[in-house]
Amino acid sequence: MTEKPETGALIAVLTRAKHVAVSTGAGISAESGIPTFRGKEGLWKKYRAEELATPTAFTQNPELVWEFYEWRRGIIAEKVPNPGHKVLARWENVFPVFSLITQNIDGLHQKAGSTDMLELHGNIWKLRCTEEGTVSENHQTPLEEVPPLCPDCGALLRPHVVWFGESLSPTVLHKAFQLSSECDVMFVIGTSALVQPAASLPLSAAEAGAKIVEINPDPTPLTPYADFSFRGKAGEILPLIDEELKKELQSKKG
Ligand code: OAD
Repeated sequence: MTEKPETGALIAVLTRAKHVAVSTGAGISAESGIPTFRGKEGLWKKYRAEELATPTAFTQNPELVWEFYEWRRGIIAEKVPNPGHKVLARWENVFPVFSLITQNIDGLHQKAGSTDMLELHGNIWKLRCTEEGTVSENHQTPLEEVPPLCPDCGALLRPHVVWFGESLSPTVLHKAFQLSSECDVMFVIGTSALVQPAASLPLSAAEAGAKIVEINPDPTPLTPYADFSFRGKAGEILPLIDEELKKELQSKKG
């Protein structure tokens, strides 16, 4: 169990904040049992990303790529949000403006009750037609056919995720940088802060004057820019912060 961290100064900042933004990575879903990418049990240690999560791999062997995503969808389908996801869902209704930006494709923020977020790297529960570009939601595991085909035109469907060597949606990215530059506080939770452009969002927030709060058991390249660093698990630290925040807001009301 994480030692109870000192939260007083952060709570003072949060109670004054008009816009709180949160940027999450694989670490927030670690306590739900979804492997992170770069840890000891990191996904890419067992499976070579360059063989599976690239447009070239999909062109060469769509069955293999889909088998990999079927495996991941199967794992993720059984997982449930942890207390960290739940606090973030609650925070939608706590701050005057709240923005959630995630690199995760697992859909656990939605499962926890978050209704509005930017998914920088797409969503594993969405499929995209390789011909028409249409996106549909599909939660079936396993899928009826692998690789799945577009019901409208018969072309291959692909996972609606960003692969290595692909660009992020310019619209989503533009919005993410806009929110980062507008917020008063940005939480950076469970990301190794190694993958661009996501890793630059907190830097642009800091440049615009936002306070940066990092929650991660390990230091990252972002740590030197953080005003508050919590060394621990998101599923433990976030509920502790939330508890103190609730107390403070209640004492202000009363
Ligand atoms: P990483 O696997 O690179 O980093 C996960 C981070 O979470 C590490 O810094 C861990 O220390 C931290 N962590 C582990 N358990 C935690 C917990 N319980 N609470 C808080 N933090 C914890 O994952 P990302 O930074 O999300 O991109 O990876 C970024 C991108 O790299 C992914 O979105 C994916 C991958 O390539 C694409 O697929 C496009």
